[in-house]
Formats: sequence, structure tokens, C-alpha cells
Amino acid sequence: MKKDGSRELTREAALRMDLDDPLAAFRDGFAPMRDGALYMDGNSLGRQPEATAARVAEVLAKWRDEMIIAWREWIGVPRRIGDAIAEGIVDARPGEIVVGDSTSVNLYKAAAAAVTAQPGRHVLLTSDDNFPTDLYMLQSLAAQHSLQLKVLPADPVEGLDVDVLRGALDGDVALLALSHVAYRSGALLDMTVITRMAHDCGALVLWDVSHSAGSVRVPLESSGADLAVGCTYKYLNGGPGSPSFVYVRTAQQQRLRQPLWGWFGHREQFAMGNAYEPAEGIDSFLVGIPSILSTVGIEPGVRGVAEAGIDRLQGKGQQLTDLIIALADEWLAPHGFTVASPRIAKHRGSHVTLKHPRAKEFVRALIKEGVTPDFRPPDMIRIGPAPIYTRFVDVWDAMRCLRDLTATIR
Ligand SMILES: Cc1ncc(COP(=O)(O)O)c(C=O)c1O
Repeated sequence: MKKDGSRELTREAALRMDLDDPLAAFRDGFAPMRDGALYMDGNSLGRQPEATAARVAEVLAKWRDEMIIAWREWIGVPRRIGDAIAEGIVDARPGEIVVGDSTSVNLYKAAAAAVTAQPGRHVLLTSDDNFPTDLYMLQSLAAQHSLQLKVLPADPVEGLDVDVLRGALDGDVALLALSHVAYRSGALLDMTVITRMAHDCGALVLWDVSHSAGSVRVPLESSGADLAVGCTYKYLNGGPGSPSFVYVRTAQQQRLRQPLWGWFGHREQFAMGNAYEPAEGIDSFLVGIPSILSTVGIEPGVRGVAEAGIDRLQGKGQQLTDLIIALADEWLAPHGFTVASPRIAKHRGSHVTLKHPRAKEFVRALIKEGVTPDFRPPDMIRIGPAPIYTRFVDVWDAMRCLRDLTATIR
């Protein structure tokens, strides 16, 4: 801090913040970056924990040595990792989360379970800053069940306004499905307030927590949320294509029946009966055989994030993104960049979006320089510093690289 209370934006100040960072040691738990490369895309695909290769190798060895006998151990993996996510990552109880399938498929299962439990209600409600696959899944559900899908306009920077939502909630809404942190702007919605508003109208609520699990507190239990889905390959560092998780509140598990009746969701799958009977509890949200190699790959990432602690990660994420915004204001605004993420730290997740008409060229050039953010059409650069492994000086260096590129890309 400078004497006038404003932030000191020097590289030395960033290095000092790293020295004071209680999470600094967690960075060593990740495979090192090559040649000083800077990774700013933790919100798309997290980095590789050092322990992942050994964990996957252990399972490969078991497969080689024990073959099908090893299934005795593997069969419990989706539940065990689900419980670890419930305990250490999002506020949920054991037996409320299971891992398997993609986020798209879990979203479909969860949304379909919700609308089937709400006969006589005809509206699915969402917002236009929900992730495209979520919108597509809701479109397909609406078409199949003759429901109306209402897509509310969200503010492109601040996210969905509660007054806009209030105006759309009525006794015909079966399900409200929203992203907790918006994938473009990073706007973080108030899960507690919104869930309560929807429940007051008798609607069920389904949250996509893909961009919040591992970066901010996700109050599933205390908010009263009915259902949630989330990716494990972003801030949980589970690896490319690692399976997603689905949450169903205990109080809703008896009532909510997902539509894909596979043998892994059967009460007694190895009895091989011809008639489907759903398993008790969260197991009924399983469908087919879990992909064990990529499912065990989630364990080290989840363990690391749980050890670091969500509150500390959220606090550091706010500081990292504050630094991005301060540097963007100071260095990039004069070159036509605007900040398209909430400026109040507690209203955003752990990424910041910058807009520029030539965003695509900037991202290409950054990648050539060894800095990896991502591009979202038509004009957005998303910078996602994962608080578990990103240093303040990494953010400073990445932003300086972007500033230097303004000399050539105008
Ligand atoms: C918010 C959100 N939901 C869902 C998905 C996609 O999930 P999947 O490809 O696992 O179905 C993504 C992918 O980035 C996402 O950001």
C-alpha cells in the first residue's frame, strides 16, 4: 500500500505479497511449469498435481495384476470422491454427492429429476449468462416435456439481478437453474438469497458450481439448494475430461428420480434383475460403469484444495483478481481495454474478463510469449489465476506481457 491508501503496483510489491502468502507452499504440489511459462487458465483446465501420476499408475498396476478382482475396491470410488468433495470443497454432507458422467449429463439428470417432481408447473427458468451446455440441456428437456424455457437477461458484467429474477418467479416455475459463478464475467450470485426466493414460489433450484467449486465458498447445505452439478477439471485440478459431480440434498433424495435408469443406479446391480429399482440415496444418480482411471485422477486435486481451505483460497483469489483489475486500469485502459467482471471482490469468482476488439490477436500473441489465458468470442480475454498455484508475481508478469503487446497490436 502507498501512503495515500492506494495500491502499490510494482513487481516488488507483488513479490512481497507472495512472501506473505500462507498458501505459497501449495504451488510445490503441482508439476512445474516449463521455461517460466505463466498459466492463467485455471478456470478452464487446472494444472496437474504432482501426486496424480502416481495415483493413476497405482490403478494401472492394480488393473495389470488383479484385473477384474480390483473392482471390489473401485466400485466405491465415485462415492468416496463425492464424499471428499462434500466434506472439503462445497458445504454438503456425506452421501449427498457422487462423481460420474459429464457436467452436461449430470445437469440433464438433475433438471429432469426436478421437473418430474413438479407436476402442474410448466416453466424452466434460467439466465442468458448460464453456460451454453446448460442452456442446451434445458432446451432439450423443455422440448421433451412440453415445458417453457424462460431465459432471463443477465447483466453482462454484474450477472443476474435479483429484481429481474423476482419478476419472473411465480407458481408456474418448476425449476430455477443458474450458474453460481458466470463463466464469462465471473459474477458470483448469492446462492442463499436466490435459493430462498425460488423456494418461496415452490420452485426447486439447481446450481452449476463448475466455476465456484474450489475457488469460492459454495453454501449448498445452508442455502437450502436442492441440486447442484460441477466440473472437477477446473479449480479441482482433476485432469482433462475428469468426471463431474452431482449433488442432491438428502431431504430430496427420496423424491427426486433421475431419468437414466442404468445398472449402476440400481438397488442391487449385481443381482442382474430385469426390472429397474432405484438405489437408495445419491447412488441412484449413477448410470453406467464409472471411468476409473480418470475418476481416481480427481483425488489428489480435491485433497490439495481441501487442505488449502476454501476460505483462504477465496481470499487469495480476490486479491489476485483485484491485482488484475488494478493493473488493467493502470496499464490497459488507455489502450482500449475494459474490465467486464464485477469490481467488488466478493461479487466475483477467481477470474477476470477483459474486453478488447482485438482480444483474439492478444490471446494468440500471449500464448506465443508463454502466457496462457483464454479467449471467449467475440472480444473477451479471461484471466483465471487459480489461487492454489498462482503467485502474485505471475499475475504481474502476465499483465506486463499484455501491456507490452499493446505496442504492436493496436
Ligand atoms: C459452467 C460450466 N458448466 C458446464 C461445463 C461443461 O461441462 P462438460 O463438458 O463436463 O459437460 C463447463 C465447461 O467449461 C462450464 O464452464
